[in-house]
Formats: sequence, C-alpha cells, structure tokens
Amino acid sequence: MSDPDRRYLTTPIYYASGEPHIGHAYTTFLADALARYHRQAGARVLFLTGTDEHGQKIQEEAKRRGVEPQELCDAMAGRFREAWAELNISYDRFIRTTETEHQQVVRAFVQRLMDRGHIYEAEYEGWYSVHEERFFTEKELGPERTDPIAGRPVERIREKNFFFRMSRFQDDLIRHIQENPEWIRPENRRNEVLGFLQNPLSDLSISRPRSRLEWGIPLPFDEEHVTYVWVDALINYLTASGAIRPDAEDQGFDDVSGSWWPADLHLIGKDILTTHAVYWPTLLMGAGLPLPRQLLAHGWWVVGDTKMSKSLGNVVDPLELTEQFGSDAVRWFLLREMPTGGDASYTPERFLARYEELANVLGNLASRVTSMVARYRDGTVGPAPFDGLDGPIDRALDQVHGSMEELRIHEALAAAMELARAANGYVESQEPWALARKDDGEEALDQTLGSLLRALVHLTALFLPAMPDRMGDLAESLGLDGVPTLEEAAGISPSSLAVKKAPPLFPRVELTD
Ligand code: MSP
Repeated sequence: MSDPDRRYLTTPIYYASGEPHIGHAYTTFLADALARYHRQAGARVLFLTGTDEHGQKIQEEAKRRGVEPQELCDAMAGRFREAWAELNISYDRFIRTTETEHQQVVRAFVQRLMDRGHIYEAEYEGWYSVHEERFFTEKELGPERTDPIAGRPVERIREKNFFFRMSRFQDDLIRHIQENPEWIRPENRRNEVLGFLQNPLSDLSISRPRSRLEWGIPLPFDEEHVTYVWVDALINYLTASGAIRPDAEDQGFDDVSGSWWPADLHLIGKDILTTHAVYWPTLLMGAGLPLPRQLLAHGWWVVGDTKMSKSLGNVVDPLELTEQFGSDAVRWFLLREMPTGGDASYTPERFLARYEELANVLGNLASRVTSMVARYRDGTVGPAPFDGLDGPIDRALDQVHGSMEELRIHEALAAAMELARAANGYVESQEPWALARKDDGEEALDQTLGSLLRALVHLTALFLPAMPDRMGDLAESLGLDGVPTLEEAAGISPSSLAVKKAPPLFPRVELTD
C-alpha cells in the first residue's frame, strides 16, 4: 500500500522541440491539482515535471532552426518553466534529461540491465517514426504507411542495435496487470494494454548508432551508440526520485528505501500508454526495481472536432487564454471539461460557457454573501447555530474526497460546484434581505449569513487544487489567513471572521480572437 503521508506524482517530460499547448497544460494541471489536494491533506509531495531533450526529433528541430541542440533545449526548457509559472504549477522538481545527474543514472541503469543479462546486440530493420520516436511493425502502420498515432511519415531503417529482452517479461507484466486491477486507470486503457499483450511482445531496441544520431546519452558499454530516447526519458522518473546514486558503491538498485521511488502516480496522455505501461515496467523488472504504483492515461484534447496540430495551425495556447481570463479560469475549464477517461473538445463557446458557470454560480455567491455580511453585519456575524448548509457541505466533502481518490477530478469539481449552487438556492429561500428588514430577524440573519460563510470557507478549500489564485483572493475577503485545509475549514467559526466585500472573482470578459 502506498503511504498516505507521501505522494510522488509525475507528468510526462515534454519534448523540448515545441511550445507548450493546452494538451501539455492539461496533464500538468491534473498533476498540480492532485499535488495540491494531497498537500492540503498533510502529505509530503514530490511533484515532478520537466523536458525531454534528446533524440532525433530535437536534433532535427535544432538543425531546422540553425542552432545547437543544447541551445534549443535551454530555450525550450525556459519556455516550459515560464508557462508553468504563469499557470501556477506548483512542481517541486523540473528535470531536464540533459542534466549530468540524469545522464549518469541512465548509464547506470543500462549497465545494470547489461550486467543482469537482459541486453544483446543484433541487426535491426524496421519502420521508424521520428514524430513518435519509435519503431512500428508493418501491421501497426496506417493505411498510407504512416505512423498509427499521428499519421506522420515513417522511414525504413536498418542498423545494428542493442536490444532489451522485453519479451522475457511479458508474462510477469500480464500477471501484474491482472493482479492489480487499479494499476492502469481508467479501465478502458487497462483493457487496451491487456489486448496489446495478447500478441507476443518483441524485444526493445534501446540504442541508436551515433553515426545516425549524435544527440543522446552514450551507452556505457559502447560509446558508438546512444541510448534510445524513450529509455532515456522514462528513466527521468527514477532519477528525480533520488533512488539511484551512480557514484555510490551499491548504487541503490537493491534498496530504494529512503528515496521517493516507486512513484505513486504517472499521469500521461493515452498517446504514450504503451511506453509507460509496457516498456517502463518491463525495464524496471529487468533492473530489479519496484514498479510505479499507478498510471493514469487521460484522453485527447481536440479543437472543435479536429485534431490539434502545428501544421493545421489550430494549436490552442493556454497563455493567450490566461491573458484574457486569468490562469484559474483556464485550469477550471480544462479540469472540469474533460472526463478522466474520455476525450474533450475545446471551442471558444464551451470555454465561455464554463467561465460563465464560474462567474454566475461561484463568483455570484461570493460577492452576494460577502456584500451582505459587510452591509448588514458590518463584516462579522453574531454567534448562532451555523448549520443551515451542513447537509450540502458534508455531501460535497464526501464526493470530493471519493472522486479525487479515484482520480475523477472533473467529478470532484462538479461536486464542489453543486455546493455553491445549493448555497445560492439557500440565499433565495432564506431571503436575507427580508430578514434584515424584520425587527426580530437578527438571529435568523446571523444564522443564514453564518451558514453561507461556512459554505464559502469550505469552498475555498474544495476549489483550491483547481483555482489557487482566486481561492486565495476569496479567503482574504473572508478575513482568513490563507486558504484553510479541509480539516481546518471544519473548525473555523463564521462569527470569528472579519469579512470584506469581495471584488468580482470572475469578471465579465468578451472573447477576442
Ligand atoms: N517526451 C514524451 C514523453 C516522455 S515521458 C517519459 C512526449 N512528449 S510530448 O511533448 O509529446 O507530450 C506528450 C504529452 O502531452 C501527452 O502524453 C499528454 O500528456 C500531453 N498532450 C499533448 N497533446 C495533447 C492533446 N492534444 N490532448 C491531451 N493531452 C495531450 O510524448
């Protein structure tokens, strides 16, 4: 079982050949929301993200731009860091595969596989997609002899490679997936991997000759070959865990205790399921290391009903949306709109509809409640039983916890929004403005406004993982010293708060294009 006090969460490391877009942002928001949720519950968290900087794709992009690969990577790692700062990503470690430490861990890992007899050398011929950075079998290729994931051209390659005996681990992997039904989430992705494993697993080419590809980590046992970029990239999760110490005598392979390994959750898109659910666990088995505890493969963002791609010129830039709406609105849209298992579509209209939901339900609640407390009670309600919304609060807490644990973030957000809706309904039915006019309405007014404040205090905590900025602002208007944890929220008495009228949390914005 995983230790509830400690969570190690990862995003894929993004190729340093392209700009961050909403697809990258989505996975990163998911990880960020989970990291914040677990920190809120008191866990120690290691949240890892970074950039994937080796391989043919990077080498070709650098050449196209007329710069050295390292220059391109430095620039792009900077772009990702800037984007994540702008979008409020609370990562603990940003890893780059060109870091010395990582290069050493990769070499130690590959050497370990060699020492354990899992690597051999052979001639190889196959169809390679530079876009996906992997070989495909004839059977897997698309109708036009294109790669089956992105539909890009493939090239025929024949060369001497080193191979990892992946086939040896097929049965162990199948057993692992069958014995751990939660290991790959959601269920449809698990079935996809089990389906893939019904065919014999081939061995994995783990090297590229330097004569063809310079830009990679040389193999420790043959400097004329560099490590295949996917092997290099997957090992980033291990490097950042601190489990492997290349210079120490025991190197750490036999005892990972005291490090963050194994990861609790790898968050990925469905496009990279095979590499994470087949290559990675078998490589770890080969090295004799524990497997990550869980993988979550989410669906694909499309634009309208079209695939998002550079060549179509329809790539949605999360930073542009942030400029207009603020980063929390972008986080909210992406996290709320995509069901964890399925695909989702971005359109300006959908975005606006979700934004209006935020403004009309949560924003409206915050401004009407704080303004009534300021106006009718000079900022502080008198003591009364504040239990008017306890039912909806308890329901929201239960549902949010349950959904977050099951990695159904969209449902957690829907449940929190239900609480805000219930609180708005309570305002309508209690009519605090009428109570304020009644001579004997004092206690009922305190009880009503206090119950609403209690709901708002909980809402700051419930929405914090998705909207850290705006929830910080709301907490300030409520007179809180920062957003409370869920546990703290329950102990805060509404009559202890000095409330100020909240400025609009989600102001009206016109969409520009
Ligand atoms: N470098 C590899 C990953 C190595 S991890 C050891 C890679 N990089 S990538 O830049 O192509 O990013 C892929 C990831 O970005 C996907 O798995 C997904 O998490 C996210 N997305 C990229 N485009 C996406 C959509 N259109 N929709 C949703 N997520 C997508 O693959």
